Amino acid sequence: MINKINQIKEELEGLSATDLGAVEELRIKYLSKKGAISLLFNDFRTVSADQKKAMGQALNELKNYATERINALRESLETADTVDLSLDLTRTPAPIALGSRHPLSIVKEEIISIFSRLGFTVAEGPEIEDDWHVFSSLNFAADHPARDMQDTFFIQRNPDVLLRTHTSSVQSRVMEHTEPPIRIICPGRVYRNEAISARAHCFFHQVEALYVDKNVSFADLRQTLLYFAREMFGPETQIRLRPSYFPFTEPSAEMDISCNLCGGKGCSFCKHTGWVEILGCGMVDPNVLESCGIDSKEYSGFALGMGVERITNLKYQVKDLRMFSENDKRFLEEFQSAH
Ligand code: DAH
Repeated sequence: MINKINQIKEELEGLSATDLGAVEELRIKYLSKKGAISLLFNDFRTVSADQKKAMGQALNELKNYATERINALRESLETADTVDLSLDLTRTPAPIALGSRHPLSIVKEEIISIFSRLGFTVAEGPEIEDDWHVFSSLNFAADHPARDMQDTFFIQRNPDVLLRTHTSSVQSRVMEHTEPPIRIICPGRVYRNEAISARAHCFFHQVEALYVDKNVSFADLRQTLLYFAREMFGPETQIRLRPSYFPFTEPSAEMDISCNLCGGKGCSFCKHTGWVEILGCGMVDPNVLESCGIDSKEYSGFALGMGVERITNLKYQVKDLRMFSENDKRFLEEFQSAH
């Protein structure tokens, strides 16, 4: 019997296991009811009386040793499975990569800052809109072809839920519940159902400005535009206004600035005209004031709207509109020093 005890002890000393399943097999092999050690306890009955004490002690020690060894194996595998002690999860990742501001945010903030120096404050509205705020209140008649000027995303089966196609919707939202004087600037994202290419995207950003008060005139609009253009593109910048059409302004105009790349001499960017178009504007149509509850005999106003991507392209010569939304770090890092 003592030989068997010693043999099992030796086996236990050399035990190893690579997974918890193997540990369980070892437990069954040695410690279960039919395991090797239990069988020795059965044999114990045949041991002669004078040896019983010593054998009993040796057997109990063997059983304790086996239990200890197997538990130790199990524990070492369990901790290895869950925690790698060499890994410090509280450590700060290094090196810390510094982010940079997105070019569209840089330009948007600059536009806001220029207009805020003229007393304009920021107003915002929802991107998911209804027909009234995007079209009807802005003098787009129900079946008027002007609605086709902007390819709209409608929510299926409910033409009264749509993604705003322009930030002009914020004009009517503000006029509805604000007494003039109103002097607001509305930056935001707009959506149009366009095929995505280098020159068009299904979403882009606009900034809208609206000024409603007594005796607001076209001269006020022109002077505001000139101030904006010179602050944004430099003191030498010239502007020109061309007659245009928007349902919500009358008269309406488009503003060109002298091309800031060639200084107005003509280059491929301005298609050799010396001018580039940057925004739409006009005097708020009296119908719009009235549909928003403002007395058009007492008040007049001007409005203007511009694409942030367009202004950004002019400032930074970004050739492909898709760069703005692809999150390519190499592109974004180019604006690290801009602010
Ligand atoms: N909402 C027009 C567009 O998306 C831009 C615009 C033109 C806004 C004239 C105005 C405006 O406020 O007066 O094309």
